[in-house]
Amino acid sequence: MSEIYVLRVNGEEHAVADAWSGESLLYVLRERLGFPGAKSGCEQGECGSCSVLVDGVLVCACLVLAASAVETEIVTVEGLQPAERGEMSDVQRAFVETGAVQCGFCTPGLIMAVHALLDHDPDPSDLVVREAISGNLCRCTGYGRILEAVEVATRRRSGGPGSGVGARGVSGPEVVAE
Ligand code: FES
Ligand code: FES
Repeated sequence: MSEIYVLRVNGEEHAVADAWSGESLLYVLRERLGFPGAKSGCEQGECGSCSVLVDGVLVCACLVLAASAVETEIVTVEGLQPAERGEMSDVQRAFVETGAVQCGFCTPGLIMAVHALLDHDPDPSDLVVREAISGNLCRCTGYGRILEAVEVATRRRSGGPGSGVGARGVSGPEVVAE
């Protein structure tokens, strides 16, 4: 059965026409609305590469029915401020500067997870950071540089001293990707 509904993505409304009602939010974002930032990894809620915000809550877009996201505010990695000016967000910049991006497949999901974390907890403990990104699998970095990126972004948001890259050492990662 085809559907016509409207999704609000990154502050703008988008009509979704001729869609099957069982399509995931990930599929509709990527294939129908032209938002390829969320990546399709496992499509089973295991890897976190498809992470987006729905009403401020981090979700796996592969597990959400697109039609159920009507009347919500959806934010993808393309919509992070100040993306509309073609600039990176503070978290994106920290990832680049610390070398936390290698193949980059996991990166959009991790960026969304870190934004969701820092927007709710601007000064998370190391344990909280590790838990916050534990649903985002990365096969390249070993997580050390990702954790360093989170530290840099956290320090910059707090405006505290020593907010440069590598300002505070990060011990070896204990995040286990299963
Ligand atoms: S593609 Fe959604 S969690 Fe892996
Ligand atoms: S940078 Fe390659 S999977 Fe994370």
